Amino acid sequence: MNKTELVNQFLKEGKLPIAKEIHDYQKEIEFDGSKVSIIRSYEYEPKQIKVEDFVVYFRSRYEQIKNLLINRPGVESPISISKLSSYGEKSTIIAIIKDIQRFSTGTISLLLEDPSGEIKGIISKDSELVEEAKYLALDEVLGVRGSPSRGVFFVNEIIQPDVVINNKKKFAKEEVYAAFTGDLHVGSNTFLGDKLEYFIKLLRGEVGTPSQKEIAKKTKYIFLVGDIVDGIGIYPGQQKELEIDDIYEQYRVAAEYLSKIPKDKYVIICPGNHDSLRIAEPQPPLPEEIAKPLYELPNIIHVSNPAYVNIHNVNGFEGLDILMYHGYSFDYYINNVEGLIEEGGYDAPDALIKFLLKRRHLAPSHLSTLSLPMRYDPLIIDPIPDMVVTGHIHKSKVSQYRGVTIIAAGCWQKNTSFQDKHGLHAEPGRVPFLNLKTGKTTVMHFE
Ligand SMILES: [Fe+2]
Ligand SMILES: [Fe+2]
Repeated sequence: MNKTELVNQFLKEGKLPIAKEIHDYQKEIEFDGSKVSIIRSYEYEPKQIKVEDFVVYFRSRYEQIKNLLINRPGVESPISISKLSSYGEKSTIIAIIKDIQRFSTGTISLLLEDPSGEIKGIISKDSELVEEAKYLALDEVLGVRGSPSRGVFFVNEIIQPDVVINNKKKFAKEEVYAAFTGDLHVGSNTFLGDKLEYFIKLLRGEVGTPSQKEIAKKTKYIFLVGDIVDGIGIYPGQQKELEIDDIYEQYRVAAEYLSKIPKDKYVIICPGNHDSLRIAEPQPPLPEEIAKPLYELPNIIHVSNPAYVNIHNVNGFEGLDILMYHGYSFDYYINNVEGLIEEGGYDAPDALIKFLLKRRHLAPSHLSTLSLPMRYDPLIIDPIPDMVVTGHIHKSKVSQYRGVTIIAAGCWQKNTSFQDKHGLHAEPGRVPFLNLKTGKTTVMHFE
């Protein structure tokens, strides 16, 4: 049985899931004029993963992105690679990039694959695509338009699944705010407890200017995008940089801080790569047995990483759909994608999120994260959210891309020696507050 037949049989028999989306996790939590709806959150059933599961997963990822691409201008009638004529007219294929070679002459060679076969794609050094090709990443699925000639495909156009522009702005009827932060890293000796405490005092109305106090009072939603604690054994030499070297104690202290946030504000938490023993994505919500003190706080809502959450669906307002993703995949792109390196790498998290939105995937290259195989790919960005909020980069940035608000949340940790070495420049204590009535964002600095 060949690969395609095997995949088809799996799909037909529905032999998966190894992991399942827990539908009953979709729930609504309503309190005093504010509301949080968990649209999508994931958890796993403990089952052994086999090689075939990955085959099904990668095939399903290809099919899902293909469905997003199929109606884009230029991708109306794609054909299979095996059907390309040896010397033919312009055609469009939907392919996975299996390899990229950049020659010193400036020519770029791509190994393009679909379920029917593979072909070498050539972008000539004089092509207008050379600039765009700086952003191509391994394993991404895209539409490629070009002309076949004797077993090679000369590429004229690249079509990414991208975000469909949405000009319909959604505004709440009343003034209400959401704050976005994360990367607390409680337990690290570079955790900035004083700054975090000041932020929480501001949320309590105890400090700040009159206008900051007004915003704080109207803040009903606080997003914490992972790395709540520093964890144990996460990077080489971490032990020396830990102030608290017990994971339970790290969460107890984190809960002590967060318990002071007024209970009329929801705190929505997803895990990050420092949080739990398992970093394969999607990561289930923080484990209750380890992070128990956080589960004892009534205003904390735990979701997986990534997760889709809707906030403030009240008074006839449909609410905002927010995609939360910690960002473990980001390091790979910042270190490997030429276009992103040129845009500033770790200092341009907004460029990185745009890159992912264009690809409609949170980790298009397999090497960028560990992903557990599912019957469908939970890292695909579908539906298009109103906002994407991410962490991991420790730098706050607010931006827009085709109607999607992008927020890179900041952190509460000074650089560790490990981060220094990897070129990350933390900007701790900066928190964007979004006014849901106007769509405007105010970044407060707690320095
Ligand atoms: Fe972090
Ligand atoms: Fe992280």
